[in-house]
Amino acid sequence: MTSMTMTSDWTTGIAGTMRAMVLTGHGGLDKLVLRDVPRPRPGRGEVLIKVGACGVNNTEINTRTAWYDRAVNASVSVELGLYGLDSSTGTSDAETIASWNSSTVAFPRIQGAAIAGRIVEVGSGVDTGRLGQRVLIDPQVRNLNLPLRAQLVAYIGSERDGGFAEHVAVPAENAHVIHSSLSDAELATFPCSYDTAEEMLERARLARGETIVITGAAGGVGTALIQLSLIRGARVVAIAGAAKEARIRALGAHEFVARESGNVRLAVEKLVGEQSVDVAADVVGGAVFGQLLKLLRRGGRYMTAGAIAGPVQPMDLRDLIYKDLEMHGVTCPTPGAFARVVGCIQSGQLRPLVEKIFPLAELPQAQAEFLKREHFGKFVIVP
Ligand SMILES: NC(=O)c1ccc[n+]([C@@H]2O[C@H](COP(=O)([O-])OP(=O)(O)OC[C@H]3O[C@@H](n4cnc5c(N)ncnc54)[C@H](OP(=O)(O)O)[C@@H]3O)[C@@H](O)[C@H]2O)c1
Repeated sequence: MTSMTMTSDWTTGIAGTMRAMVLTGHGGLDKLVLRDVPRPRPGRGEVLIKVGACGVNNTEINTRTAWYDRAVNASVSVELGLYGLDSSTGTSDAETIASWNSSTVAFPRIQGAAIAGRIVEVGSGVDTGRLGQRVLIDPQVRNLNLPLRAQLVAYIGSERDGGFAEHVAVPAENAHVIHSSLSDAELATFPCSYDTAEEMLERARLARGETIVITGAAGGVGTALIQLSLIRGARVVAIAGAAKEARIRALGAHEFVARESGNVRLAVEKLVGEQSVDVAADVVGGAVFGQLLKLLRRGGRYMTAGAIAGPVQPMDLRDLIYKDLEMHGVTCPTPGAFARVVGCIQSGQLRPLVEKIFPLAELPQAQAEFLKREHFGKFVIVP
């Protein structure tokens, strides 16, 4: 049954306004302001979600600090994350081409890509049977005529408002029904990190018995890569800070290499042999990038979805040419990747890794702690 905008008992008590953490411009944590704003209404084909929890991701920090701007050549350091870019870079809110897809960001903006919650209102054209459904939100709002065209994606929390608020309106097709005994905070660890990781592995065609090296293995995407690689039957070599070894091994990684080892290439070769890595899944970039290309076997696949340690790196083209390597950048997972992740959650194959939960008002504190990179898994906001 379809209808005009419909509400259900779930909406009881909802006022016309809501609390939201609003990003007011590019810069430091002071650009995040807690405000009462009008509660969104679902448009045609949309549903209104009462946010149960929203995961914290680097993309919110990348956007706030304007790190995506190609004029910026810096790692996503604690200083950058806390205070924003140095004013000498000359960036301004009006001119900075600082969204992930090289467009300007419209302020004020409510960020937050990784949303778990419940449908409390449906827009016209949406089945009222969806009211009350528990859902996990795919953050990629695609052009339905060209769903695989990355540059036509509007990312929730970047090109449209996201989940650092009490409510958010999203297209109905982005709200995946989820049947799970996990809490909302646990569910909110998955979107953004796990769909990205699954897309990296799918495009890499990671197969049973192959060896994969994962950088940033203790982080949100890294822990997702470990779990999803194990589901595919691969041998996992995880690179992370030494302090995280026990937790990474407990997750099932076969081999561990401390990031502090100095020569990561030699350390990995000692464990698995020379040129025997089939896939490198890299979310760190920086100096390890060149070493990963050396580690890959002939015909190996280098996958990247992040460059927190530095986006601009030298490269020996002979590694690419004479080893017939493949290189893939991943930023927009397909609908299939998100659906597979939902399937793995429902079948209990994925472990949620909640490091810490913060209330909405403490999002700046959550980001400050996140930037220290001492966490294992995810930080989550519960409004
Ligand atoms: N393209 C996409 O769709 C997409 C989606 C999600 C995330 N990403 C990107 O992927 C990257 C990782 O995201 P994440 O959520 O997994 O991050 P995270 O939770 O912060 O984890 C990143 C890990 O990298 C390690 N690391 C190694 N070298 C580092 C350095 N120089 N500076 C800081 N950390 C360093 C840190 O752990 P150790 O100290 O243990 O090494 C940290 O745990 C980010 O760039 C993010 O923007 C992209």
